[in-house]
Amino acid sequence: MKRLGILISGRGSNFEAIADHIAAGTLDAEIAVVISNRETAPGLEAARRRGLTAIAIPSRGLDREVYDRRLADELEKHQVDVICLAGFMRLLSAGFIRRFANRILNIHPSLLPAFPGLDAQRQALEHGVKLAGCTVHFVDEDLDAGPIVLQAAVAVRDDDTVETLSARILAEEHRLYSEAIAIVLSGRYSLDGRRVLLR
Ligand code: GRF
Repeated sequence: MKRLGILISGRGSNFEAIADHIAAGTLDAEIAVVISNRETAPGLEAARRRGLTAIAIPSRGLDREVYDRRLADELEKHQVDVICLAGFMRLLSAGFIRRFANRILNIHPSLLPAFPGLDAQRQALEHGVKLAGCTVHFVDEDLDAGPIVLQAAVAVRDDDTVETLSARILAEEHRLYSEAIAIVLSGRYSLDGRRVLLR
């Protein structure tokens, strides 16, 4: 059974969706550890309620290299095959990314490369796009930038607010992340430059 390490900073609804897919048998994997850089992340409590190993490794005041080494050591200790960033609000250092090359995924609430960074749904709404959505991608050293595994589009409605649009995107995120994880775990893909070719 392939082992996932999940990194969160907050609510953890994407983590919970992954756990639900595993419980329902629609994703063949196990969650080895959930780690948050914030002790108060609600997702940590949710993970403990599910009987999972959930750890806080506070990042405050730590040098990035030092923090990332600590994080990587913890993930290796739990023998994770793939690392899923699920609302993890930190950039990872080159050293960390090299240690887990092509084994780190992120989910972002926009159709990348549009609207990287914070408040992607607000950026999309304010730009006036007609299609918004979400992206699961491999993580490289740049923010929200690595090779794209899967995307899902959501139509923007005239009466959308940041909240209503975010909620519809989030529903897609909860489906898409597990699909992308399944592809990566099964090895049913190849990397051709930036392109992730599905087999
Ligand atoms: C999601 O919108 C995700 O795409 C973004 O951060 C948010 C995390 O939400 N990276 P949650 O903590 O998974 O509920």
